[in-house]
Amino acid sequence: MTAAAEFDFESLRARLQPECEEIIGRYEDTRSALIPLVRLFQEHEGYASAQALEAVADMLRLPLAVVESTVSFYTLFFRKPIGKYMLQPCRGLSCIINGAEEIMAHFRARLGIGHLQTTDDGLFSYEEVECLAACDRAPCMQVNWRFRYDLTPQNVDDLLAALRGGAAGIAPLAQTKAPEKTWHVDHDVPRSAGGVGVSNPNNAGGVGDRSGVIMLDRVLADPSFAERSHERLVHESNLRPTTGDGGHH
Ligand code: FES
Repeated sequence: MTAAAEFDFESLRARLQPECEEIIGRYEDTRSALIPLVRLFQEHEGYASAQALEAVADMLRLPLAVVESTVSFYTLFFRKPIGKYMLQPCRGLSCIINGAEEIMAHFRARLGIGHLQTTDDGLFSYEEVECLAACDRAPCMQVNWRFRYDLTPQNVDDLLAALRGGAAGIAPLAQTKAPEKTWHVDHDVPRSAGGVGVSNPNNAGGVGDRSGVIMLDRVLADPSFAERSHERLVHESNLRPTTGDGGHH
């Protein structure tokens, strides 16, 4: 993308400098401006670039690691470029009961991508998210953080067509660099034994996620867990189970 090659971060930083100073001035502790500043850069750049994080660390006189670790905690900060429209159908319980699985399958089929992926043309990014607190209008979603309610396969098709035609009344996100297939950054952090093979909070798995089942199977299969679950029974005689030979309670 030509615009990507031409993007000049230093010009953006100079242009945003007065606004950054105004934001920093709002807080007694300048560190409190960290998230609003990263958000400001992301709004203009389309993602939280490495240069933006360095600039924020510089402005707040913080170690870069502090900025990076804060940003990596929040899934609404994108460490890599995303599409112009972020599509986020809800996969929470109320939405699932009301047909979210069909909606998610429909999105995946129509877009040809999966959870945390961006279409080849850089137009759509797709993420299945947790409860959006609009359960009374399930199944629902957000498009660039604007709600769409009572989803059906038909109105999903209408929405995608309107977005492609620029007629949905939703402004595209900034895109200063062409997105890759995914914006997800796999943090190479060693997992605890219980967490191995279980998807992380940035990728809870989407349709067919078995994280909970994996964890439960692991607990049931581990003899040490079985012993621990009977600790109270050993100490509290009234809780001891009846044995097959008509034994005590
Ligand atoms: S479960 Fe989807 S909005 Fe609450």
